[in-house]
Amino acid sequence: MTRAPRNRTITLTDNERENYRRKLLKIDNPLSLEQILNKVINADISEVVDLLPSRFVDLLFIDPPYNLTKTFNNSSFKQTSVTEYMGWMQSWLEKLIRLLKPSASIYICGDWRSSSAIHLLCEKYFIVRNRITFEREKGRGAKKDWKNNCEDIWFCTVSNDFTFNADAVKLKRKVIAPYRENSIPKDWVEEESGKYRLTYPSNIWTDISIPFWSMQENTPHPTQKPEKLLAKIILASSNEADVVFDPFAGVGTAGVVAKKLKRNFVIVEVDEEYCLYAEKRLDMAEKNHTIQGYYDCVFWERNTLRDIKSNDTRSKKSRFLQPMLVGAQRNGRRYE
Ligand SMILES: C[S@@+](CC[C@H](N)C(=O)[O-])C[C@H]1O[C@@H](n2cnc3c(N)ncnc32)[C@H](O)[C@@H]1O
Repeated sequence: MTRAPRNRTITLTDNERENYRRKLLKIDNPLSLEQILNKVINADISEVVDLLPSRFVDLLFIDPPYNLTKTFNNSSFKQTSVTEYMGWMQSWLEKLIRLLKPSASIYICGDWRSSSAIHLLCEKYFIVRNRITFEREKGRGAKKDWKNNCEDIWFCTVSNDFTFNADAVKLKRKVIAPYRENSIPKDWVEEESGKYRLTYPSNIWTDISIPFWSMQENTPHPTQKPEKLLAKIILASSNEADVVFDPFAGVGTAGVVAKKLKRNFVIVEVDEEYCLYAEKRLDMAEKNHTIQGYYDCVFWERNTLRDIKSNDTRSKKSRFLQPMLVGAQRNGRRYE
């Protein structure tokens, strides 16, 4: 079948499947951190969690099957009661605690059906710090219900000693009503492409695009998380060289973004096909460190690609961006 010219969905050839399959880690006895670092483990997390080392995780990102009936390639998850979903989560979550450093942060994703179970479990095991809600703008409206347009991410820590780099996750937005004091712009700057303000992020994220066919990160996975979303979490809650762990890795978004941002990763996924896509994406990240929507060390609002490009090629006048641009060029960051 011929693809639409703008379709950039990642595919796998038979040759790639064979090569990437050889890279996957299968484990049946306890392994050290060196043996698992920056590897894709093809396994059921419940079967291998006891074989992983203690206290190696700086950032735990969990994106489990939500409490929905959903097919993931060769397996499927069946919607159940909140209580049963909670029991299922508890069966693996309490075993993951041993893997965490005392300074670790934990992020757990869910939709409205799973959120209450996640909250109660998080409260049992961790210090609950916040609930992020992100706008998940995809799909048609529902005729007999409100369209489900958001998801939650619960943010927790093991202790009160934890990393939070707020300056690394600033948002660049257009100023709608620019205010001046004594004719001088108040907290905003004018660039050739418009007037902008840099703000600290809140717990409502409306700047996230769900991967779709014309995005270069897109794969056939039905619930792949956007790289931009992972970039916010990883930049805020880890430092370079830290270890990011994802026990329900899908096509490896957490590992890919960790690699792009110079962190280490360990990821586990039960489905071999998804592991192969993760390997391919990790391979692609060797050469391409760009993250859609994150340029010049700031997160841009959705659909601002034209502004970003014109900013890059024409203006470079921005007072607050100039030092960041220099840093980005030094790091070899390129624009797409
Ligand atoms: C919501 S998806 C994760 C998507 C991922 N965040 C990404 O961006 O690609 C959940 C994943 O968990 C995997 N999974 C389900 N049960 C699992 C288990 N017991 N151990 C490991 N992976 C599992 C599914 O195959 C699915 O790919």
